[in-house]
Parts: sequence; structure tokens; C-alpha cells
Amino acid sequence: MKFFNRPLMKVTLKQAVQILKNGGVVAIPTETVYGLAARLCDVPAIKKIFVLKKRPADNPLIVHIANLQDLALLTKEIPATFKKLKKFWPGPLTVVLPARLKSVPSLARAGLKTVAIRVPAHPLTRDLIRKTGPLVAPSANVSGRPSATTAFHVEEDFGPDFPILDGGPCRAGVESTVILLKKNGWSLLRSGALTEEELTDVLGLPLRHKKGKRPISPGQKYRHYAPHCRLVLCHTAQELKRLSKKEGCNAVLGFDETVSVLPLLSLGSRLDPQKNLRLLYATLRVLDERKDRLVLVDMDFAKQGLGATLAERLTKASAEAR
Ligand code: TXA
Ligand code: MG
Repeated sequence: MKFFNRPLMKVTLKQAVQILKNGGVVAIPTETVYGLAARLCDVPAIKKIFVLKKRPADNPLIVHIANLQDLALLTKEIPATFKKLKKFWPGPLTVVLPARLKSVPSLARAGLKTVAIRVPAHPLTRDLIRKTGPLVAPSANVSGRPSATTAFHVEEDFGPDFPILDGGPCRAGVESTVILLKKNGWSLLRSGALTEEELTDVLGLPLRHKKGKRPISPGQKYRHYAPHCRLVLCHTAQELKRLSKKEGCNAVLGFDETVSVLPLLSLGSRLDPQKNLRLLYATLRVLDERKDRLVLVDMDFAKQGLGATLAERLTKASAEAR
């Protein structure tokens, strides 16, 4: 729903601090996606986030800190291998480590003994955290909707009266990469804005991928990033051409280079995965507004680096993940 005749409820940094200190929830900008923030020390405010987002209680939240020093407040011991990863903070890397159970409320951890932590790069949000202390912040979308990459998207999901600290459109447009420390190395729990290749280069070891049905990261078991229409993945140009002729296909989600007789929603050049990801969630939201029923997705792009993240998100958003 759009509220064209009403301004967004934008708040200043000072007002955001006040709302959070008074037990409220505020949408905050990060370099990945917008977050729905509450203070880590405020359990009733954290409860509000779960209600607002309609988020299952078994899906834990990421704790956002302003700098590396705050890490020691939240986790029992900082592993030696973490030293190599420091260079990615501030930035789109979330690490899951054993929690200091008394410092991280069980609700934020969804009862797990671990805590997910990151230092966001957006200067406004880091200023905010310096004034409020650590903030929990899941993506600022109703569960199952595409994440919000602008203040307008937050308003679409939470209405015109919802307080938003507007930091402009998100630079990456896709969530942080989540990794978990295990005895024998790091496991990739969620692909994201930091590529697996960048991580393995720095670690000098490959990341483990969880096999089997039960995901370690509870968030991965829920259907995510879902537009209202059905997305059908086409892995080759031939498949796309063949299905385009079928009745009931309304449009194609693809790239500037995509060839199709159907209307095209482009994510930019297929050689520019960074741009593709920046446009992805906004484009999925446009699909919802168009009321398309069946949309073909051009999956003919390189699946390395950020291309792997794009492929993962499109697959999750598609009918194939149902
Ligand atoms: O870029 C981002 O990470 C954004 C911005 C706002 O920082 N946040 C975000 O949060 O994407 P959310 O809640 O939408 O996704 C967090 C993911 C979920 O899949 C959740 O299950 C996982 O991180 N997670 C959080 N704590 C965890 C833990 N202790 N163990 C395993 N997975 C965890
Ligand atoms: Mg999310």
C-alpha cells in the first residue's frame, strides 16, 4: 500500500536515540538493508520486534555493535581465527560465536547459546549505537517479504507512522554474510554481500557448507524474500524462450541483455552482480505492485562471487523453494 499524500515518519538521530531509550523500535539504515532496531538490554522492546515482523520466536536476531571493542561484552572468548576477519568490520559480515549468556537476552538468541554479531558500516547507525549501546536489528520487512532497501520500503511494510532514521538507499541492497565458528573452522550459514571468495582468501581455508535437512541458522528454514507472484527459474536462454510462449506468463525478471517477447524487469547488466543485488528487492516489490501471476527468471549468469548470492536469493524467492 502507498501513502503518497503523507510524508514518511522520518526521525532525527536525536529522536531515534530517545525512542530507543524509551523502549521503542526504530528502522535504521545499514549498508546492506534497513533494520528494525531495539536496544539489546530492553527485552520488552525486542518482543515488539518479533510481533511487528510476525517473526517466529525460534529465529534469533543479529546484535549490531559500533566497534570491535564491544565484541568482548557479548562473547566469552574471541577466537584466534577471528583476527583475520577483523578487516571486514565495519562491513557486511556477521559472525556467530558462543554468547555471554547474561549479556545477551535469551529472546534475542532464540534460546541458543550463540550470538550473531556485526559492525554495520553506515555512519548514522554507528553514531546511533554509540549513543544507545548494542542494538538488535533484523531486516526491516514483515517476515516473508523482500527486505527493505529504502525508507519507502519500510513504510510499505509498517505504515506511515513508523519511525525511520533515513540514511538513503542501501549501498549493497542484500543482507550480510553469516558465518559460524565451529571447532574445525568456519561454516557459511547465509550467503550475502561479502563473497565467499573474499572470506576464503583471508581465512586461507574453504568455508564449510551445512549439508542435510536441519539448518544451523534458524532463519534459513523459513521461506524468504517472497513476492506475491510465482517465479519460475529458467536456467538457459532456450528454456526462457520456450516458456515465454506459454499462456499465463506475464513478465521476465532478468538483465539488460535478456531477450524475450514479454515485458522485462531488468536488474541491470548481467555482468554487474553488485548492481543486480542492489536492485533485487526493490524489483521484487515492483512485481508485487504489478500483480503479475507468473514471472520467468533469467538465471543465465555467472554464479561466482556476488552472482552466487544473487542465485541463492532468486532460488529462495522462487516457486522452487516452496
Ligand atoms: O545485513 C543484515 O544482516 C541485516 C541488517 C539489518 O544488519 N540483518 C538481517 O537480519 O538480515 P535478519 O534477522 O533478517 O537475519 C539474520 C539471520 C537469520 O537467518 C537468523 O536465523 C541468523 O541470522 N542468526 C541470527 N542469530 C543466529 C545464531 N545465534 N545462530 C545461527 N543463526 C543466527
Ligand atoms: Mg531478514
